[in-house]
Amino acid sequence: MKISVNVEAELPADSANYEVLAEGVQKAAAVEGLTCEIGLRRGGGSKVIIDALVATNQHLTKPHIAIDPYGNIAYQETDQRTLKLDYTNDMRDECLMNMYLYCRARKVHFCFWNMEDTEFFKRFADGVPIYNESKRVINTYSFVHFDGPHAIAPVQVEIAFFHERTKPGAIFVFDDVNNYDHGAIDRTLKSMGWDLYRTSERKWAYSRK
Ligand SMILES: C[S@@+](CC[C@H](N)C(=O)[O-])C[C@H]1O[C@@H](n2cnc3c(N)ncnc32)[C@H](O)[C@@H]1O
Repeated sequence: MKISVNVEAELPADSANYEVLAEGVQKAAAVEGLTCEIGLRRGGGSKVIIDALVATNQHLTKPHIAIDPYGNIAYQETDQRTLKLDYTNDMRDECLMNMYLYCRARKVHFCFWNMEDTEFFKRFADGVPIYNESKRVINTYSFVHFDGPHAIAPVQVEIAFFHERTKPGAIFVFDDVNNYDHGAIDRTLKSMGWDLYRTSERKWAYSRK
């Protein structure tokens, strides 16, 4: 039985300066490793990342992954504020339906992990298994969008995990840099050999030397 779905994928976004994501993915074209978004919500950020992967033919070799717990749990929106927003499992289900519709049409290899970043770090410290004709365990990242918790402590933990798994030329983009003391993050990154190459109102981008 053939099932054809004739609907447009809807992947709304919630922030601004998404051009910084597209530019970052393009800059990392020659760099080995997965692209990753922490915090998928309704897929708006990943859509921009996927479009940039396709525009530069990187989707032929690089899977895109996303990590998000949903479940309507408390969310660290700023350094001072933790609250429940609308990140429910219904949102997850609607988002994933749309994500896979979008990726299927573009032949993008997308994998989603329904868990917090910290749970992912415990389980995938030795890489993520990717199956496409053969099995590869990939433990390098060419591009990461940090858009989960917006507070210093969890972002520092994320940086420590991904830094070890990047090569020169890799790109990190941070969203909502005004929600927390991004100055502390900026100092950490620079001390680890990351260059700040782009600022905008909401998103700042770094490249590994
Ligand atoms: C600001 S929204 C992401 C927006 C999305 N990146 C975009 O550009 O449209 C934050 C998301 O982070 C998720 N989240 C919350 N805590 C998280 C954690 N510890 N690890 C990963 N994702 C988390 C939330 O469930 C929510 O979907």
